[in-house]
Amino acid sequence: MKITAVTIKGLEEVLAQELRDLGAQDVEIMHRAVGFHGDQEMLYKANFWLRTAIRVLVPIHEFTVKDEEDLYDKVFALPWDDYMNINQTFSIDAVVSSRQFTHSKFIALKTKDALVDKWRKLEGRRPDVNTMTPDVKIHVRIYNSEVTISLDSSSDSLHRRGYRTHSVPAPINEVLAAGMILLSGWDKKTTFLDPMCGSGTIAMEALTLAAGRPPQDKDRRFGFKQWRDFDSDLWDKVTDVEVDYSDLPQIIARDRGLRPLKATEMNIGHLGWLDYITVEKSDFFKSQQSDESYHIVMNPPYDERLKERDISQFYQYIGDTLKSAYAGSTAWIIAGHEEALKKIGLRPSRRISLMNGPIPSKFCKFEMYAGSRKTNKKEKRKGDDSAFDKPW
Ligand SMILES: C[S@@+](CC[C@H](N)C(=O)[O-])C[C@H]1O[C@@H](n2cnc3c(N)ncnc32)[C@H](O)[C@@H]1O
Repeated sequence: MKITAVTIKGLEEVLAQELRDLGAQDVEIMHRAVGFHGDQEMLYKANFWLRTAIRVLVPIHEFTVKDEEDLYDKVFALPWDDYMNINQTFSIDAVVSSRQFTHSKFIALKTKDALVDKWRKLEGRRPDVNTMTPDVKIHVRIYNSEVTISLDSSSDSLHRRGYRTHSVPAPINEVLAAGMILLSGWDKKTTFLDPMCGSGTIAMEALTLAAGRPPQDKDRRFGFKQWRDFDSDLWDKVTDVEVDYSDLPQIIARDRGLRPLKATEMNIGHLGWLDYITVEKSDFFKSQQSDESYHIVMNPPYDERLKERDISQFYQYIGDTLKSAYAGSTAWIIAGHEEALKKIGLRPSRRISLMNGPIPSKFCKFEMYAGSRKTNKKEKRKGDDSAFDKPW
């Protein structure tokens, strides 16, 4: 069957690789999505294993429409009793990218009307809508005049891993965190460090990746569990996984704030991961020089969401700290503030565009070569700019 995994803009390539690794066929990169072919087992595996998918859709009908009435007629004509029964609740999501159709809510409403009227005709009564926990979640996508109706096999967004019970003001999306780690090419051996960990999302994604732990729990809600063809034996088979937490690399989560650290500890603790992630209170700007080479992935504050007194200076300090205390390490930084990012004063060797929620962001790689360590911050501040790599 044809399947579409939806993702965040910028993560299409890593998602495609995840799918190839799972054994998906005909993997095709699309805009914010990856299409592939697979059987029911592949559908279950995709939901259970994909770290960079937000949802997994199964397209059931594709057609073109002239206008809203045409959409109503074509949705009405679909064999809805093949996909649900009258006693099941449903919800409809729509995404629209079209000059003619501009209101996704109206498209969702029109689709709902057609589906409900069809059931009235079939049974004399209608199924109920449940927007929070529907039995069957239907996804409508309109691109120009092309309509794709899909069943959402995930139902709840796959970024909900179930581990983040405590949060901070600007947590990163779990799917984005996993995508950043995969994009960063971490070898799963080098010590992993998130020096501004907030609620610990990046460190927890690093742990599950290194341990080969699936990102989802077997018992969570998935749309396909409500489908008529749900095969619980197959699901048991797909989810029968032993996770080996021995021989893990060191994973360190640091923050200068007590509240974020508490949130991280609670999140890690409730899953029994306190032995696998080192949580430390530490101000990054007071980092001591160390001979250790770290693989750093960090999500510093953005001034849109977290007010730093002077965001440019803040990023300048990040650069200074990387240069003075982390020679021999590699740092990947996501930031939505392009001007501030330039203040890091190191030339990024890679620069990847990603969306962090609504914020267009850059995910940049900085390599601090051993030997480029500058020990005297004051001296640098005095203006020996020639000692800095030029920003791009
Ligand atoms: C955008 S939040 C990180 C969110 C995190 N990725 C998550 O998923 O929860 C930025 C974090 O940086 C921390 N921070 C800011 N300045 C810091 C510094 N100098 N040293 C360590 N942590 C710092 C803040 O306390 C905040 O928790």
